[in-house]
Amino acid sequence: MQRLRDSFTFRKSTTLKTAHEEFLKSLPKAELHLHIEGTLTPAQKCAIARRNGIKLPYESEADILAAQNYIGKDAAEYLKNFLAFYNEGMKILRTAQDFRDIALDHLRVCGAENVRYAEISFDPQPHTDRGVAFGAIIEGLRAGIDEAKALGVEAQLIMCINRDMPVDSAFRMLEDSKPYRDRIIGFGLDSLEEGNPPTKFLDLYAKARSEGYRLTAHCDVDQTDAVAHIRDCLDLLKVERIDHGINCVEDERLVDQLLERGVCLTACPTWRPSDTMPRRMDRIRVMHERKLKVTINSDDPGLFASGTLGAMLPAVAAEGRFSEEDLAQLMINAFEGAWLPRERRDAYVEEVRDYLAAWKRARI
Ligand code: HPA
Ligand code: ZN
Repeated sequence: MQRLRDSFTFRKSTTLKTAHEEFLKSLPKAELHLHIEGTLTPAQKCAIARRNGIKLPYESEADILAAQNYIGKDAAEYLKNFLAFYNEGMKILRTAQDFRDIALDHLRVCGAENVRYAEISFDPQPHTDRGVAFGAIIEGLRAGIDEAKALGVEAQLIMCINRDMPVDSAFRMLEDSKPYRDRIIGFGLDSLEEGNPPTKFLDLYAKARSEGYRLTAHCDVDQTDAVAHIRDCLDLLKVERIDHGINCVEDERLVDQLLERGVCLTACPTWRPSDTMPRRMDRIRVMHERKLKVTINSDDPGLFASGTLGAMLPAVAAEGRFSEEDLAQLMINAFEGAWLPRERRDAYVEEVRDYLAAWKRARI
């Protein structure tokens, strides 16, 4: 079928500073924090809704775009408003073909941006609650991933719990995933953090760990008890990575612990249409300077003005005052944090080092 993303153009603020665009274009990249439901652009939503005979609560693509300028009186309310839009938008997904198409569309963009490796999160619970079979979600996403191999893009799946839904429903999700165990690499935790702390999920994470899933969890930016949540995810849920996690810079001991354990943190400097620059850059810069394994991610590229990883990086480079060595290191962090066999990770890291060396040689 026709590529659903075609009519979507990324919106860049005219005041946005950019840097190292040429270097970034061909730099081998990896992304570890990306929600497939968050890749849905207004054009895709309209096309899939039409195909599935669903009436959207918007009149046009422009109306959908206008609704993306989320605000909130604080970070918790901001996240809540964002999630309302995110959850509404994913209701159009019904069939294995829908999931295949959105995965492949996103991975095509990865191919064009030289994003060589992607770990793709997905949220089964809202889909299965609407009557979509768990198998249709996995079969569809895996079909898109398999087709994308021909484009030189490798991807794996992370199944996420919606933390604001009942724990029972997440246990059912874990049960549903059993026949597909070998097609899902990781287990994560997303959605509304306020009132849904990591301690709500101790048994669930213990079970996921016993089933061999690699573990991560969102510790979203500036939420209530943000630092304690990062600590609880490390010590109680025993995660290997943290999604977001940038509040760690508020606590020196926590930074030391993250360094000692080599924990990878998947930061998201995404911006809204009304923002004039990437958000959270001061803290991401500090994390980089402290030599934490921090990575840059697009989170929900269809729902933010920042767009996809390749599109957002030049502004992140400018605002973070990152050199080419820094940018290469951020990508090395991502490949090293990837849930791939050691040899694959090493091969990608070497590609990044070779690229940087060749770039420098060409400029002597
Ligand atoms: N935080 C929490 N839930 C989410 C996010 C996020 O960044 N993106 C999609 N669901
Ligand atoms: Zn996220």
